Amino acid sequence: METDIDRILITDRELAQRVKELATQIAACYPDEDTGLILVPILSGSIIFLADLIRHMPIKMKLGLMTVSSYSGATTESQGPKLEMDLEEDIHDQHVLVVDDILDTGKTLRFVRSKLSERNPRSIRTAVLLRKPEKAPPDVTADFVGFEIADEFVVGYGLDYDDHYRNFPHIAVLKPDCY
Ligand code: XMP
Repeated sequence: METDIDRILITDRELAQRVKELATQIAACYPDEDTGLILVPILSGSIIFLADLIRHMPIKMKLGLMTVSSYSGATTESQGPKLEMDLEEDIHDQHVLVVDDILDTGKTLRFVRSKLSERNPRSIRTAVLLRKPEKAPPDVTADFVGFEIADEFVVGYGLDYDDHYRNFPHIAVLKPDCY
């Protein structure tokens, strides 16, 4: 796996530090007496980010899982979001925080927000680890952003290429012949 990596963009130490900061910032927006927070991680890319984030959020919450995929097989071209597994939790009148790995073209977050809005939650906010400012359209914003990165396909810390490299601990770019 390591031999496929071209460059590390964000190290595991930088990730740990920033995720902790984000968790503190997010938790401050949801006081404990304001019950009914449901985190909705978008699987599978957000799993490692989610696991690290919630362990620094000492507030009451539930998790509701949703699987949305945009890439099928060995490609870096998004085919548009496809709902693979819908959320089972009742989010009516609940605060929802969508957690995703990356805000790239914005199609996934736009799709997820619209699906969740139909269920009348009390609020919907979004937290993403990474954002590509050159790509994300102005109508798709995230309330909490870990890092802004340039427009290149990245892997590691949950993000994959053809379902590989999710376990690489840093955010990295692959060698050109590995895509
Ligand atoms: P969009 O374009 O809909 O992207 O904002 C959201 C989903 O697509 C995946 N994605 C990536 N995965 N490296 C990856 O490993 C990338 O650079 C990348 N860009 C988008 C990701 O699953 C995200 O939730």
